[in-house]
Amino acid sequence: MTNIDQDILKAAELIKKANKIVALTGAGISVESGIPDFRGPSGLWKKYNPEIASISFFLKNPEEFWKFSLEVWKTLKRAKPNPAHKALVELEKMGKLHCIITQNIDGLHQKAGSKKVLEIHGSANWLICTSCRARHPSETVIKQLKSGMTIPICDLCGGLLRPEAVLFGDMLPQDVFSEAVSEASSCDLMLIVGSSLVVFPAAQLPSVAKKNGAKIVLINLEKTWFDEKADVVIHGKAGSILPKIVKNVKKTH
Ligand code: APR
Repeated sequence: MTNIDQDILKAAELIKKANKIVALTGAGISVESGIPDFRGPSGLWKKYNPEIASISFFLKNPEEFWKFSLEVWKTLKRAKPNPAHKALVELEKMGKLHCIITQNIDGLHQKAGSKKVLEIHGSANWLICTSCRARHPSETVIKQLKSGMTIPICDLCGGLLRPEAVLFGDMLPQDVFSEAVSEASSCDLMLIVGSSLVVFPAAQLPSVAKKNGAKIVLINLEKTWFDEKADVVIHGKAGSILPKIVKNVKKTH
């Protein structure tokens, strides 16, 4: 048995014993769905300066911002859930997974069938008017850009539209983040999947869980600063590791 196989069994054992499991997911869980992450080996921030996803860049240069966003949006729309998303659905159906806290805006957890998902960085499905705050479905952008516009505009007031998703320099949606903190502090196991854990405040959630006595299972391709604090760390692809863990939980469930 390899070390990874042993760690998979250990993770499954912890999951079986746990009463309230909360998953924290990041861009790494969607890489196998064809969506690049930000800081991984082929991450978006190797190609672009992360400033392009900031509120200040959007306000200074909306045209370039929207060119970038449209590319990202097209990739998100094409993507389908992968076995890692599906494994979390299984865990929820088994009554083991209480909720998912995700930093992702791609909606793939919901597409896979997960019921309770807290999107702490918002969603790519919606745009918001910077003037009248009206919400518009993202399809609006496509229609407007197809008709020759380079910057999508609110059809109610003519204001500039921005993604509802959180940009660098934005506040997180406070109600959703408070709920995430409350779930993190009341779980007895946190399952972290595919996050470099460098973007705060999301990256403080594992510490919140740990401080309240939760076990930590961490699955990520690369090392993170939180590895040494976790009970089980598995470096590998979420799409192959998570289904194996869930299979072992099921065996003796
Ligand atoms: N399986 C598991 N982990 C993977 C996989 C995979 N198939 N592919 C990549 N990873 C890992 C990478 O090694 C990396 O450590 O996923 C992690 C992704 O980290 P980031 O790219 O930093 O993504 P995330 O932690 O979600 O970023 C947080 O940063 O730019 C912002 O708002 C953006 O929500 C995002 C936030």
